[in-house]
Amino acid sequence: MSTVAVVLAAGLGTRMKSALPKVLHPILGDPSLLWVLRSLPSDLRAAVVVVHHGQEQVMAALETWAAAGLLPCPVEAVPQGEPLGTGHAVKACTAALDRLQAERVLILSGDVPLLPASAVTELASSEGLILAMEPERPTGYGRILTDGRGRLTGLVEEKDASPEQREIRIVNGGAYSLPWKPLRAALQELRNHNAQKEYYLTDAVVAVAASSPVAIAVRPEAELIGMNSRMDQARLQALAAETIREFWMREGVTFLDPHSALVGPRVELARDVVVEPGVRIEGDTTVGEGARLGQGSVILESQIGNHTEIRPYSILERASVGANAHVGPFARLREGTDLADHVHIGNFVETKKARFHPGAKANHLSYIGDAEVGEGTNIGAGVITCNYDGVNKHKTTIGKRVFVGSDTQLVAPVTLGDDALIAAGTTVTKDVPAGALALSRVPQDNKDGAAVRLRARQKKA
Ligand code: UD1
Ligand code: MG
Repeated sequence: MSTVAVVLAAGLGTRMKSALPKVLHPILGDPSLLWVLRSLPSDLRAAVVVVHHGQEQVMAALETWAAAGLLPCPVEAVPQGEPLGTGHAVKACTAALDRLQAERVLILSGDVPLLPASAVTELASSEGLILAMEPERPTGYGRILTDGRGRLTGLVEEKDASPEQREIRIVNGGAYSLPWKPLRAALQELRNHNAQKEYYLTDAVVAVAASSPVAIAVRPEAELIGMNSRMDQARLQALAAETIREFWMREGVTFLDPHSALVGPRVELARDVVVEPGVRIEGDTTVGEGARLGQGSVILESQIGNHTEIRPYSILERASVGANAHVGPFARLREGTDLADHVHIGNFVETKKARFHPGAKANHLSYIGDAEVGEGTNIGAGVITCNYDGVNKHKTTIGKRVFVGSDTQLVAPVTLGDDALIAAGTTVTKDVPAGALALSRVPQDNKDGAAVRLRARQKKA
């Protein structure tokens, strides 16, 4: 059976009041549409994303995700043109679905991010199914009408519903699995004679149900909440965060203050990881066994080795840290930072495209960019790699067991050989051979008694 997914993502999202298309608003760092696409089974023939509002942004996002290998199946975008309703949106995919030789269509909304992959897989393998829910407040949702035997007989939008129909608590979750042939025929027949003057997908679903069976499966409300406002977004994020934290707690992770920790859906935490209060972790991030993530730290798209300690208020972005390392407090590891095992990076140290070999240390107040730091090397306080001349970036290469004294500037490109010693306060502008001592300082001049005489003159004046 060839199943193709259609993901509806053309709507404006008026109530979000945003310049960003609704489906790109994030939940724990991942856009809503990415959550939906990642929930698709990998054996689908393809997914077709219907776009219109902000379509350049949505299409660019699709390309980025595909390039990053985040999508389980081939995904293509189909512009809807003026969005005239959910039925019109699926109809806009007719040519694509025919070309993909779809036999069954799985329809999801790009703004319903928390439907679990297991539910999507179940839906995708069903002959004809509509997901329903029974929310506390059914307001705004389409009501599901059934006959005495529980068979689907109607789907009525709230704006079109009679007072009696509004009493119905079982509502349409907006996710469907339907045979393409009868759906295709029903879409051709759609009319927009309703309160919203829209072409309703729901009318087509009811038409399909008249000729082939469409079952109704009730799912928990939390799985089918749509993101229509910033309040919905906050609620979805809170729900997702709780589910994810509970998952990792069951896997052996400690959260010192669970409610304050935000862990994204692609993050992997090993057992005995400790997450301190106020930590945010997003993207493709892995954290090794026994690692500790300090209070207030932000960790994005990074890898952290076993038993490494990220001390409070550190920021890691596309960085990799080995095992048994120390980072922070107040450290900033930027993209391309690669720290080996047993590396120490201390407070107010910024690194970028910097590779630290095992046991290297930069414990205080430094900027190390476009650099290689050899095994066992010690970078003193206040050392700066001057890597940028205003036009180009240049590399600093530091050998093994080098001692770089405090307040040293390393003007790149420059190389320090193994076992070199750089005296404090030196401005290094040329390569230092292995084993050499480099020193550039204005000789100090002590004038006996001059301080006392100066103070006396100042007092008189
Ligand atoms: C829809 C259902 C409703 C159901 C609810 C569940 C219809 C007519 N109604 O209502 O029964 O209870 O979902 O959440 O289908 N979209 C397009 N193009 C369009 C219009 C919408 O791509 O022309 C997209 C939207 O961006 C959104 C999705 O389709 O992702 C659903 O559209 P929305 O307007 O939110 O429908 P609801 O009124 O929520
Ligand atoms: Mg909606």
